Amino acid sequence: MRIIVCESAEEVALRAAIESIEYLGEALSTQSSGKSENPEASCVLGLATGSTPLGLYREWIERYRAEEISFRNVTSFNLDEYCGIPPSDPQSYHSVMHENLFRHIDIDPAKAHIPVTDCDDLSQSGERYEAMIEEAGGIDLQILGIGSDGHIGFNEPGASFSSPTRVKTLTKRTREDNARFFPSIDHVPRTALTMGLGTIMSARAILLLATGKGKAKAIRDTVEGPITAMVPASILQFHPYATVILDAAAASELALIDYYVDAERNRQS
Ligand code: GLP
Repeated sequence: MRIIVCESAEEVALRAAIESIEYLGEALSTQSSGKSENPEASCVLGLATGSTPLGLYREWIERYRAEEISFRNVTSFNLDEYCGIPPSDPQSYHSVMHENLFRHIDIDPAKAHIPVTDCDDLSQSGERYEAMIEEAGGIDLQILGIGSDGHIGFNEPGASFSSPTRVKTLTKRTREDNARFFPSIDHVPRTALTMGLGTIMSARAILLLATGKGKAKAIRDTVEGPITAMVPASILQFHPYATVILDAAAASELALIDYYVDAERNRQS
């Protein structure tokens, strides 16, 4: 794992923008044609909700407005969606993504995918989502936040390491953490349709962002703890291209923090 320690949440957003734009390269070029025949010039992005990636989305929007990047050759797949609330609900991840990213950029709405939960057969919906990701050629870069219990997407402790997109029950802790977005905890959905750990691990590269003291333990367990289903994000230790970008507070419990800072300095020199 590559660990980048930043001073602030703002710097995390900036570094994440720089890393993602560099990694996706040509695919975000404002020069390349929307109907490019060159597969190198298109890409598949995995997107996350929660408050952590919002700074990164603001950076992307700013660069799009400055005509530095374009999303017209991007296909995206969001990690998850709540069950039991309609896409029109302001707290649905459909609404959150529309409000905070999609409506500000030139992504083709037909290519911006979010798991569908307003349907009769959720397991079929999960299977269809997996098939769509495969048809798109797999995810090039997956953006992740992390729950205070180490969940990614909505893969709660105990999630199978090889899981595909399916319905997961949210833990009490996750519902309490996310209650701040709802009128009360009773309004927080109890289940969600989420990409599985297997889906996430199939992405070619991963960018996990975490800020604040509340994430410090989850980050320590993810980066330096044993790989265990009790900390779903710890599976990322197996990923060949996982980068973790942290602010000082989220990095504060890492035993090898000096080493990571040193390694990053060497990388840049
Ligand atoms: C939700 C999302 C996760 C996200 C987590 C943390 O549970 N399903 O993808 O990482 O919240 O959110 P925040 O960034 O607001 O702390």
